[in-house]
Amino acid sequence: MLYGKTIIVTGVSSGIGARTAELALQLGADVIGVDRRMPAAPIASFIEGDLSTQAGVDEIVAHLPARFDALCNVAGVSGTLGAAKTLAINFYGLRALSLAAAPHLREGGAVVNVASIAGYGWRANLERAKALVGVAGFPDAPEVAGNYAINDAEGYPVSKEALLLWTQLAAHQDPFKARGVRVNAVSPGPVATPILREFRAVFGDARVDGDISAVGRAGVASDIAPAILFLCSDGARWINGANLPVDGGLEAVVNAGTLGF
Ligand code: NAI
Repeated sequence: MLYGKTIIVTGVSSGIGARTAELALQLGADVIGVDRRMPAAPIASFIEGDLSTQAGVDEIVAHLPARFDALCNVAGVSGTLGAAKTLAINFYGLRALSLAAAPHLREGGAVVNVASIAGYGWRANLERAKALVGVAGFPDAPEVAGNYAINDAEGYPVSKEALLLWTQLAAHQDPFKARGVRVNAVSPGPVATPILREFRAVFGDARVDGDISAVGRAGVASDIAPAILFLCSDGARWINGANLPVDGGLEAVVNAGTLGF
């Protein structure tokens, strides 16, 4: 389903992004990887870049090809860098890259945002998510975190709540809608990649182990990559603005607890 497509994958040097790139190549796509670190295994096309500032995003965009079919926004940080950096990378940098990429995406192309079960609270915290998404451009992230009193422990979930809300807005707004570009999210549960150790520091062992035991095991990167690539494919041509939980059933468990069934 990806034969001949050109797919950009951020976060390509580790975990879910690395596996997504590898699988996309196996499925016949050309892959351009983006990361702030070099990949362990060399890939044919790689852009070294940092999504944490507008200048970093501009530098990445300057190296993108004129036309491509999909952008997989996989890069992300756990929250250990503090709320401001986490918001900057996980949301504002991702959004800035996506908006800059939109004119280069082919009609019928796709943006896939890797969010998280940690963003589950976007409905409960809708006003805050709306406010964060409402801040235009690439703002001064420490100022935003200060204005909305987002402490370091909240930085990660809040960044993913904003991302889930923006995914839905972007799906039916320009510049994506005008070009027939679909915008969707994938929300993993706990996945055994390097970031999982950091989640233990941010959320505590009890929360991480509780999530893992609720669904029987932690995921692996190979559990997530096929879902990301499906949303890039023409098989997903009528899926837009959706969030696909890829978590072994964790969201259903959380729903049962939250909604009381
Ligand atoms: P990882 O830590 O293995 O990979 C993250 C990649 O993002 C790294 O290669 C890193 O260098 C890159 N990156 C970080 N900051 C960057 C920046 N400023 N500019 C460019 N690249 C940057 O983590 P993993 O598991 O592969 O995470 C991928 C995505 O999945 C993240 O968005 C994460 O929030 C999300 N996720 C992961 C879960 C897990 O348990 N592993 C659970 C839910 C969501």
